[in-house]
Amino acid sequence: MRFSSVSRYLLAVVFLILPFFSAADEVEVLHWWTSPGEKAAVEVMERQLNDKGLEWKDFGVEGGGGGKAMTVLKSRVISGNPPTAAQIRGKGIQEWASLGLLTAIDDVARQEEWDKKLPGLVSETLKFQGHYVAVPVNIHRNNWLWVNPEIFKKTGLELPETWNDVFRIAPQLKKAGYIPLAYGGEPWQASAIFESVLLATGGADFYRKTMVENDPEALTSKTMMETFETLAHIRTLFDDNSSRRSWDQATQLVIDGKAAMQLMGDWARGEFLLQDKQPGKDFLCIPAPGTQGAFVYNIDSFVMFNMPDEQQKKAQQTLASLLMNPAFQKEFNQKRGGIPALDLSEGQEVDICARKSRRDFNSSMEQGTLVPSTTHGMAAGERVQNVVSEVVSQFINDPGADPAKAVKQLSLAIQTIR
Ligand code: GAL
Repeated sequence: MRFSSVSRYLLAVVFLILPFFSAADEVEVLHWWTSPGEKAAVEVMERQLNDKGLEWKDFGVEGGGGGKAMTVLKSRVISGNPPTAAQIRGKGIQEWASLGLLTAIDDVARQEEWDKKLPGLVSETLKFQGHYVAVPVNIHRNNWLWVNPEIFKKTGLELPETWNDVFRIAPQLKKAGYIPLAYGGEPWQASAIFESVLLATGGADFYRKTMVENDPEALTSKTMMETFETLAHIRTLFDDNSSRRSWDQATQLVIDGKAAMQLMGDWARGEFLLQDKQPGKDFLCIPAPGTQGAFVYNIDSFVMFNMPDEQQKKAQQTLASLLMNPAFQKEFNQKRGGIPALDLSEGQEVDICARKSRRDFNSSMEQGTLVPSTTHGMAAGERVQNVVSEVVSQFINDPGADPAKAVKQLSLAIQTIR
C-alpha cells in the first residue's frame, strides 16, 4: 500500500517532468514545404537534425507561397505558444523582429563567420538592427519557364523567348490538344506571373521603382498599363480548370505532357526530379519570356522564436548551425531546387538548371538586373505583397477585367497601405 502510493508519486513526477525533457530535445519547425518534392527535401532536414541528437516535430502547413502558414503562425504566437523555428522570408523577418519576438543568432554567426561566408545581399536580409535573426537555406529564382520538350518536338514549334512568341504559338498548341500554360488560380501564383511580366515589360530599374520604391508615377505609367495588357492576354493561355489548382498540380500537367509550359520558381525542379525526370532531356528550364539575363530572387530562411528554456536555446543554435552547413545546403537544394545560399562559386552544381541559376545570379548581380521577388515578400512587406497578389489575381481570373482600372486600383491600394 505504502509502496504503491510512492510509485504513484514517482509516476506523477515523471509525467510532469517528461514533457520538459522531450520538449528540450524536440525542435518544432513551421514551414509550408508540403508538395511531394518539397516533402522529400524536408526529410533531409529531419534526418540531419536527428543525426545531431534532436527530434524533428513537423509543423508543415499546406498552401504554396506560405500565406496560410503565416496565418497559422500568427495565431500560435498570439496564444503564447510559438514553434521553435519558422520559415519566414525577406521583409517579414524585419517585421517579426521589430515585435521583439525573435532570438538573435549572433553567437553561432560569429563562431561560424557568417559575415564572411554569405553574400552581402543575403546577410542584409537576415539581420535586424545589425543582429542575425534568421538563417538562409537557399536562393531561388522565380523567373523560370518549365517546358515539356516532347510537346515542342511533336508540334515542331520553337521555344519562346518573348510573350509575343508565346502568344504566336499558343493557338497551335491548343489545336494539338495541349494547355499552353499550366496555372493554378491562387493569388500568389498570379502574382508570380505578374512580377515576371513586369520585369519583361519595364526592365530591372522599372521593377524596382514600382515594387521596391512604390513610386506613384511609375505605378500609373504607360509601362504599367502594358504590363496589365500582356497579363490580359496571358489569361487566354490557361485551361478552364485552372482555378484553385496548387502549383505542384500545375507542374504535374507539364510532367504528364498535358501542358507545354509553366512559369514557376525553381522549387518546381523538385517535382520533376522526384519523378526521375532528367533536366535538359525530359524537361527544360528557360528564363521566363523577356527576362533573359535578369533574375528575380527569393531566399528561404528560418527564424528562431524567444524560448525561456536553456535546452531549447541550445537546440535552436544546433538547428541554425545545421542549416548553414554547406553539405546540408547542397543535399537539400539538390532535392528541392534552388541553389545554396553559401558559396557563390560556379561549377559546384550537378544539375544544369541549378548551374544556369548560379551563373545568372552572379551575372545579374554584376549587371544590376537582380531584383527581389514581390510575391515572396522580398521587395516589400506583407501588406504590399498581399495587395499586389489580390489585385493581380482578381484581374487575371476575370476575363472581363479592364487593364486601365487595374492599374489605378493597384497604385491606389499600394499608396493607401504604405
Ligand atoms: C515560396 C518558397 C518556396 C516554395 C514556394 C511554393 O514562398 O520560398 O520555397 O515553397 O513558396 O510554396
